[in-house]
Amino acid sequence: MTQPLIELSSGAQIPQLGFGTYKIGNDDAERVVLSALSVGYRHLDTAQMYGNEKGVGLALTAMGRELGLERDEVFVTTKLNTPNHREDDVRSSFAQSLADLSVDYVDLFLIHWPMPMFYDGDFVTTFKVMEEFVADGRAKSIGVSNFETYHLDKLIADASIVPAVNQIEIHPYCQNREVANYCKERGIAVESWSPLGRGGVLDDPVIAEIAREVGASPAQVVVAWHLDKGYVVIPKSAHEQRQRENFEGLNVRLSEEHIARIDDLDQGEEGRTGKHPDVFDRM
Ligand SMILES: NC(=O)c1ccc[n+]([C@@H]2O[C@H](COP(=O)([O-])OP(=O)(O)OC[C@H]3O[C@@H](n4cnc5c(N)ncnc54)[C@H](OP(=O)(O)O)[C@@H]3O)[C@@H](O)[C@H]2O)c1
Repeated sequence: MTQPLIELSSGAQIPQLGFGTYKIGNDDAERVVLSALSVGYRHLDTAQMYGNEKGVGLALTAMGRELGLERDEVFVTTKLNTPNHREDDVRSSFAQSLADLSVDYVDLFLIHWPMPMFYDGDFVTTFKVMEEFVADGRAKSIGVSNFETYHLDKLIADASIVPAVNQIEIHPYCQNREVANYCKERGIAVESWSPLGRGGVLDDPVIAEIAREVGASPAQVVVAWHLDKGYVVIPKSAHEQRQRENFEGLNVRLSEEHIARIDDLDQGEEGRTGKHPDVFDRM
């Protein structure tokens, strides 16, 4: 199956459908990630915070032998853990992520959360250290996650590189349109995290009805909605059957009217499954 790619401002291309790995433990990650790669995913999303980079690294090491895949055929994203925003910690944390993933480079390295209540609110210095990793080739692209428009204003004003990506919570109940539109206008690719609302949107009667109309599953309808919006979408499932089901969302086409009905499900702030970035403070 040909997969849609999105060109990032760095010039790199990211597969628009990726595989999320949050809550997949180190012990399961090798098996689960190899299963996702065998289904067809060519983009993996992990983070130091998830505690599974070693397991993902085992899959990246085994994929050549098991699936005939080369490193450059799989787009790998990881994220800076929240206690590591200070300059030297950024360097050591990134080196640890590369070692745990058993790779020489990642395709995308993100600041996981802005943490405006710590580090004197200075995520710009943190990002400037990440610019070093682009210069030395260990990160093909760098970006951010959970940044609001005012965080991005500050970053864009002072950093040399415009973040290639902003990965934010987006699903039918939390559409985050203001941030998404801001990013689109500035050439920052939008990535939807918890794209299925952690499973919570799949029982929605409107989505179920659309699924019946187009002959697809609710998860496939939701994946297709993200793709139609132009977002990079990274659903997670620990089960191969659901990994395949979500992957086949690539084949589902929604009409403008279907899109509008899903757009109407937005609950704004009420729809978030996670904390607002201004108050997320988990270290
Ligand atoms: N940057 C950030 O701050 C941030 C925050 C959260 C997540 N993320 C990233 O985004 C990825 C996706 O988000 P997420 O994992 O929170 O949630 P999600 O992908 O929206 O949903 C995952 C949940 O839905 C279930 N599921 C998946 N496919 C299904 C299907 N076809 N039918 C029924 N249930 C299904 C999964 O269960 P099973 O696994 O049991 O199938 C799991 O409980 C994460 O894995 C992570 O990589 C980033």
